[in-house]
Amino acid sequence: MERLLRDSRVLVTGGAGFIGSNLVESLLLSGNKVVCLDNFSTGKRENLAGFSDNPDFKLIEGDIRNYEDCEKAVRGIDIVFHQAALGSVPRSIKDPVSSTDVNIGGFVKILFAAKEAGVKRFIYAASSSTYGDHPDLPKVEDKIGNALSPYAITKYVDELFASNFAKTYEIETIGLRYFNVFGRRQDPDGPYAAVIPKFTKMLMEHKSPVINGDGTISRDFTYIDNVLQANHLAAIINDKAAINQIYNVAHGERTSINQLFSYIKEIAGRFDEKILDIKPTYGPERAGDIQHSLASIRKAQRLLRYAPTYSVAAGLEEAVEWFWNNL
Ligand SMILES: NC(=O)c1ccc[n+]([C@@H]2O[C@H](COP(=O)([O-])OP(=O)(O)OC[C@H]3O[C@@H](n4cnc5c(N)ncnc54)[C@H](O)[C@@H]3O)[C@@H](O)[C@H]2O)c1
Repeated sequence: MERLLRDSRVLVTGGAGFIGSNLVESLLLSGNKVVCLDNFSTGKRENLAGFSDNPDFKLIEGDIRNYEDCEKAVRGIDIVFHQAALGSVPRSIKDPVSSTDVNIGGFVKILFAAKEAGVKRFIYAASSSTYGDHPDLPKVEDKIGNALSPYAITKYVDELFASNFAKTYEIETIGLRYFNVFGRRQDPDGPYAAVIPKFTKMLMEHKSPVINGDGTISRDFTYIDNVLQANHLAAIINDKAAINQIYNVAHGERTSINQLFSYIKEIAGRFDEKILDIKPTYGPERAGDIQHSLASIRKAQRLLRYAPTYSVAAGLEEAVEWFWNNL
């Protein structure tokens, strides 16, 4: 069964970032012409090193907050994969102005430019943080609570704009609510680094990772290859009922931070057995954190034919090995 997008002209915003660069790579491999728009605020040039010479790849260094950069990037494009944003809940609590500027202001600019240029479909990175304080588990797409951070608000507002644009203009939109994505090329450094690359790097350096709270909070950690699959499926689906929708993109499996630490330690311990003796340090809880997050992926399974191939354990095997060889 054909499950990959081929022979299309696509734009990946945020293509120098973690998810974006993996998306660029997989879209090139399946035979598309790929434009990347990035301002390198959190993205890295080294993430693009593998394809910068590829004749089907074009980099536009620019900002989604600049409408002219958006117009340039969407010219001649069939499908947009919008990944550019300022991620991280704590970052948005520290600096809500920048997160709002990029994640809402930039979102509307690239979406409007895409619509003006006649782009057929706009697929965008939404977020599980939109579920906020809603108590139900697993999370189903139409039941959301109050947002717990400026970041969550920005991602929800994006969904409202996308849905409004789909109704008002002739542009198809699909929002993918990612749940804690991890994998190769994810940044382990800085105050807003995600937990898996951060823990792995600290263990590699024989340091004790800090767990915020008692480690019982849980997440639906999702390996990057599952996310790539969801993006390809969102690009090729032709069924009307599946378009102008929002989907959870996850594995549908809950892992506590304590369990996660043990998994990573066990895998990294195969490379260096000193790691097996390291214990975590427990610190204060973080503001804005949801306690438990677990996705229902039934909607994506039914309408997109999404079938994630990597469990958390299988994804961690590949990710930790990648970090071991590349950090
Ligand atoms: N990683 C996750 O677990 C996760 C979970 C839910 C949603 N998301 C969303 O997925 C998307 C990608 O996340 P990521 O983890 O790859 O983050 P990332 O920080 O690695 O990538 C974001 C990219 O966007 C670029 N960017 C930021 N502001 C820009 C601007 N104004 N103009 C142009 N480019 C800009 C950055 O330079 C970077 O390359 C984001 O929209 C994020 O909110 C990620």
